[in-house]
Amino acid sequence: MRLLALETSCDETSAAVLSGTSAAPALESLVILSQDVHTVFGGVVPEIASREHLTAVVPVVERALADAKVSLADIDAIAVTHAPGLVGALLVGVSYAKALATAAGKPVIGVHHMEGHLFATVLEHADATPPFTALLVSGGHTLLLDVEAWGSYRLLGRTRDDAAGEAFDKAAKLLGLPYPGGRHLEQLARSGDPKRHRFTKPMLNAGQKPGDVDYYDVSFSGLKTAVLLATQQAVDLEAEKPHIARGFQDALIGTLVAKTIRAAKAHGRTKIVLGGGVACNGALVDAMRAEGKKIGAEVFAPTPRLATDNAAMIGAAALFRLERGERSEATLNAHSAMPI
Ligand code: KG4
Ligand code: ZN
Repeated sequence: MRLLALETSCDETSAAVLSGTSAAPALESLVILSQDVHTVFGGVVPEIASREHLTAVVPVVERALADAKVSLADIDAIAVTHAPGLVGALLVGVSYAKALATAAGKPVIGVHHMEGHLFATVLEHADATPPFTALLVSGGHTLLLDVEAWGSYRLLGRTRDDAAGEAFDKAAKLLGLPYPGGRHLEQLARSGDPKRHRFTKPMLNAGQKPGDVDYYDVSFSGLKTAVLLATQQAVDLEAEKPHIARGFQDALIGTLVAKTIRAAKAHGRTKIVLGGGVACNGALVDAMRAEGKKIGAEVFAPTPRLATDNAAMIGAAALFRLERGERSEATLNAHSAMPI
């Protein structure tokens, strides 16, 4: 089985060619075009994202096919992210995938974007297979899942307000860093004193046992306010910025790690899989590894290219769906929201 995968849910236009099986996927090519145009607006502008996808989708797909040294005739199926995401952005990918599939007489399969993030790690680590606890942390989502088997996902916790990446980006903005600010904030925090701003780890002690509302949920809006107050109260703001960044990052990571370890322990999981753009954060991965070790859990994190949005992860998830005999109808549509 060889497939062409497409991802256009937010501000990356990406295409990939994969072959093999979901147990041993082989990535033959991956092209990711990031839309830098949004930087000046300090956030993704949905209408602009759609237009950029329209311009980019054909050359990106052609490049992915050329890099894999194949043509459309060598492709057995076309996979595309159809939910969740910006509906106009998703529509470009879905429409193009359906058109290609119809013209070439190939099946098309719609993939859930977050299921794609779950499959990203297995592209590089053959052992990153279920059962495992998963923490998916991106610009739009923060999900804590128990993954019993591929296709069997139990949502344990989520954010009550801002996603982890969104919180990073907003805190970074308050510190005068460019958008998207997550990696800039991580960089700045490296020279910060961890003792100077001990922000409360949000919702760490909320809920006493599994089943309690809040036990696995997180919330980052209060932490964002703490950052704002710290910037307003700083005597020398420039000198204070690395310390505020460090305090913010430690608090956010502290909560994410504690809740993930709590979930792994409660479900007896010995593997923890990270995904989403925030999984690029070295401090998060290091802290998760250190705490995971204490409960005998191995932590798997994708490399940055596969942690952030990309079509390879959509292709890996699609291999699994196609092997199960799933195919999408010609009525496949884009949806801004959809449970995993
Ligand atoms: O998964 P992703 O590429 O796109 C979404 O689906 O949202 O995630 C992007 C998010 C942004 O909020 C970005 O600031 C954050 O991931 N991010 C980071 C780091 N690298 C990217 N956050 C913290 N530390 C990083 N090193
Ligand atoms: Zn994503």
